Amino acid sequence: MNTGTRSKDDKPWGGGDVSRARQEGISAAGWTNPRRIRIQAFEPVPTPASFISERQLMAEPLLIAQSKDPQYLLPKMANLHGLVAGATGTGKTVTLQVMAEAFSRAGVPVFAADVKGDLSGISQAGKDNPKIAERVKKMKLEGFAFEASPVTFWDVFGEQGHPVRTTVSEMGPLLFSRLLNLNDTQSGVLSLVFKIADDHQLLLLDMKDLQAVLQYVGEQAKALQTEYGNISAASVGAIQRGLVTLGQEGGDKFFGEPALNIDDLMQTDSNGHGVVNILASDKLIRSPRVYATLLLWLLTELFEKLPEVGDPDKPKLVFFFDEAHLLFTDLPSIVADKVTQVVRLVRSKGVGVFFVSQNPLDIPEAVLGQLGNRVQHALRAFTPKDQKAVKAAAQTFRTNPKVDVEKVITELEVGEALVSFLDEKGTPEIVERAMICPPRGQIGPITPEQRAELMKTSLVAGVYENAVDRESAFEILKGRAGQAATTGAPQQQGQEQPWYANLPNLGLPGQSGGGRRGDTLIEAMSKSAARTIGSSVGRQIVRGVLGSLLGGSSKR
Ligand SMILES: Nc1ncnc2c1ncn2[C@@H]1O[C@H](COP(=O)(O)OP(=O)(O)O)[C@@H](O)[C@H]1O
Ligand SMILES: [Mg+2]
Repeated sequence: MNTGTRSKDDKPWGGGDVSRARQEGISAAGWTNPRRIRIQAFEPVPTPASFISERQLMAEPLLIAQSKDPQYLLPKMANLHGLVAGATGTGKTVTLQVMAEAFSRAGVPVFAADVKGDLSGISQAGKDNPKIAERVKKMKLEGFAFEASPVTFWDVFGEQGHPVRTTVSEMGPLLFSRLLNLNDTQSGVLSLVFKIADDHQLLLLDMKDLQAVLQYVGEQAKALQTEYGNISAASVGAIQRGLVTLGQEGGDKFFGEPALNIDDLMQTDSNGHGVVNILASDKLIRSPRVYATLLLWLLTELFEKLPEVGDPDKPKLVFFFDEAHLLFTDLPSIVADKVTQVVRLVRSKGVGVFFVSQNPLDIPEAVLGQLGNRVQHALRAFTPKDQKAVKAAAQTFRTNPKVDVEKVITELEVGEALVSFLDEKGTPEIVERAMICPPRGQIGPITPEQRAELMKTSLVAGVYENAVDRESAFEILKGRAGQAATTGAPQQQGQEQPWYANLPNLGLPGQSGGGRRGDTLIEAMSKSAARTIGSSVGRQIVRGVLGSLLGGSSKR
């Protein structure tokens, strides 16, 4: 791989060698090349000087753009979030790439949804090309070198990356209602269904489980009425139809196990560079509601699972949300409020969220107001609506007497932008017209072969590939129905016998039988105790942050 630069006085600061070494390190032995680790471990005891340089490296300002002065994004301020806006083709994705590369080099893992597949190029070192050379020269970027970033690919469909899954339970009724596009009444019934599953300790892992519980609730609506109130058959039917549609959109693939462990998104490679997690979203985006809900789920998951860290020197993870307008389109206000809240709260978990969108007006004001670091690419001003957007975008910047923002926004060239990052005090810098740095990685998509190779050697290769279908609501209800049919045992809820009475003997109170499924169920219960139910069986099934923030069914 040629990682040289064009101008002869450029100092390749090890870009070529480092990059190649990393590539070899990855392909030879994954991320855990023992030789690399040993070499690092036996390095001379660091002198104070190298301590200092390492510290500086950790929180070193990230050069993103250049006006007459360099424009730095401060890692310490990255959890005050950001916005990259601009019309199509103005350079948003490349700006995202430049930022992601800079975070990665600073040791910060990144998560980004790749809507058009063009972000995948970040995994390869860029190649000489007159346009890049010109940009490097114009910006006087000394020591610019092409370099690949370590990447893990993810894909809900398991095709272009490692499968991303969660359980129905962890998605929670609120986000699930959004996935199914339910109205308020239907959504209320879905919450009840989750609650009934909770109360009866029926694990909701995959779509089958939810289907099974829905069917059960539908059939037992009368018996359940005293405890849970009226459950409308029409609503149950609507939810069932919604599930079918979601399945057709591929949503069924998303639910099941092994569920994503968010620690797997927060890795660094042997060079200390943050791993860039790329969610292949070209197929997913065809169903914008599903796309937006899944990313929202991920954000809430991060919020829920990460510890408080206050304002760290650099973020724990930076989350890029491309095509962010989809998140807010037709979003019920109750969910929109929660998005605002999660964006605000996730900051103290050390997570920076950067929205990438065509127009700042796509983002609700309450969220927009929280996005401290701004890069505004060109906007068109053809229609009155365009002009309104330009005005609005201009007003979001701290004014610079030398820059007529409203005028400049419409004149910016590709890869040029109005830039305002936060200073050390968290105050926006005055806006500058600036050139965005060229990316160090390749611009544009990689080949399927390159992708396959990277997937084979990734940190999580083999961890998520095979879905596991353990004992959960579907199997339990099916088993119960079967038992009932053969033994004539009562099927109805609310009997003296607990629901698990007919299951293999686990030593649970009121249980008599024994049998072949014991292991799976014990295993299921201990596993689920750890990850889904919480510390004790019988406790509320964890419901996802939106549920708990809402004080819904999980907060009785
Ligand atoms: N910072 C940059 N350095 C070099 N080329 C750039 C830069 N920004 C944009 N470009 C060029 O412009 C093209 C379009 O940019 P892109 O980021 O894909 O636009 P958008 O995401 O806004 O639609 C890129 O393919 C690339 O050739
Ligand atoms: Mg783009």
